[in-house]
Amino acid sequence: MRHLSVLLFVLLLACCRGASQQQPASTSTTDSTTAVYQFKDASRDGIGKLYQGREIAQVMGHLGASWLERPEREREERTDLLLKALSLKPTDVVADIGAGTGFFTFLMAPKVAKGNVLAVDIQPEMIEYLNEGKAKRKITNVQPVLGTESDPKLAANSIDIAILIDAYHEFSYPREMMGHIAAALKPGGRIVLVEYRAEDPNVPIKELHKLSVAQATKEMKAIGLKLLKNDDRLPQQHIMFFGK
Ligand SMILES: C[S@@+](CC[C@H](N)C(=O)[O-])C[C@H]1O[C@@H](n2cnc3c(N)ncnc32)[C@H](O)[C@@H]1O
Repeated sequence: MRHLSVLLFVLLLACCRGASQQQPASTSTTDSTTAVYQFKDASRDGIGKLYQGREIAQVMGHLGASWLERPEREREERTDLLLKALSLKPTDVVADIGAGTGFFTFLMAPKVAKGNVLAVDIQPEMIEYLNEGKAKRKITNVQPVLGTESDPKLAANSIDIAILIDAYHEFSYPREMMGHIAAALKPGGRIVLVEYRAEDPNVPIKELHKLSVAQATKEMKAIGLKLLKNDDRLPQQHIMFFGK
């Protein structure tokens, strides 16, 4: 009996040691999380922060609002073709992330007449533009949302489609943002990245404001999303559909 108690005591000690030896492992998990991003001297249009080998672009400030609303934009970017490519259903709940002035938000809203467009941006001035646009057009199914750099403030399991037009490349916390957006998708939901083609030197946009299909696919794969389709019907931009 005495031998049995000694044996149990030794076993208990061994278990506790095992548990305490696991402690450093959780510390190293924290370390690998902080290594998601790397840093370097910022280039002209970048913020000096790298994600998956790509330097993140500077955010387009609200003073660039008139460029987003330029009259020739529809013709140049063929936003009519983009709208078709999305195949929105009237009941869809759409999140327009990095909505800016709402140029595309207000084109989508009538297509989801029984649904809703959540127009997310981090700049309060853009939220003001969105509220003004909503009042001017008397639209009720657009809801402006002030997000943060790392969180679009969307409820889990609440959206059918997230669309990011010319915005993802300037997210300063792309991993965190995409994690939240993926969690906000309903089953079968899609994430659509619309980005100027980095593969095409003739697209007259600054390098850091373009994105290739290979780079986007690599970055989405890091959070468990796969490329479902790349639609190249637009003159200058990819329309990349991702899902879980
Ligand atoms: C180039 S503008 C494009 C606006 C709009 N999608 C369009 O095509 O007209 C990019 C927008 O993304 C927003 N943005 C940048 N980082 C963001 C983030 N983490 N979450 C939400 N919006 C963000 C900026 O404030 C800016 O309004």
